[in-house]
Amino acid sequence: MMGGSDLTRRELMETAVVTSGAMRGGQLMSEAISPAAAQGTGTVSSPIDVVLRVNGTEHRLTLDPRTTLLDALREHLQLTGSKKGCGLGQCGACTVLMDGKRVKSCLSLAALVEGREITTIEGLAQGEQLHPLQAAFIERDAFQCGYCTSGQIMAGVACINEGHAGSPEEIREWMSGNLCRYGAYDHIVLAIQDAARATDAVRGG
Ligand code: FES
Repeated sequence: MMGGSDLTRRELMETAVVTSGAMRGGQLMSEAISPAAAQGTGTVSSPIDVVLRVNGTEHRLTLDPRTTLLDALREHLQLTGSKKGCGLGQCGACTVLMDGKRVKSCLSLAALVEGREITTIEGLAQGEQLHPLQAAFIERDAFQCGYCTSGQIMAGVACINEGHAGSPEEIREWMSGNLCRYGAYDHIVLAIQDAARATDAVRGG
């Protein structure tokens, strides 16, 4: 039977799956990396105008040309669901979809992705309707602190769409670029399997 504290945790987890606010000690963490750290301290460059299409909306921004897509999302569009872990392309916490394909947004310059359709965790649900993988993450309790969750979900969506969710082994291989420091991998794989089945059912597969 689910107790009161379990219910509270579940509600918090649901928030993490939709916005991927990471949790520490039961508190949602809205930020982890300072803007100063994100920009670095090199020489000053002239700002440039950049048009980004994110979650179906066009945004006109004036950015330092060195701004990464991740920093543009987090610092300029306040879409903080995508997380900065390593900033080096190694952890997958910053994964978003670009024209439906997964990319690590910490490695992409915002100025170079003009005209591409960017999808973040905030754009995955259809109104109140969670994406099947978001729902499966909740059902399977597929996270601990939640910091890597948005990256895991975005990569998982791509993994399913690419047809790489045929077996637990295949999922593990194709999700190997997304790390979870708490080792929630077994639950993540189960969630992806559930969502892949649900997606097939919707497609009539
Ligand atoms: S923050 Fe982009 S891969 Fe780690």
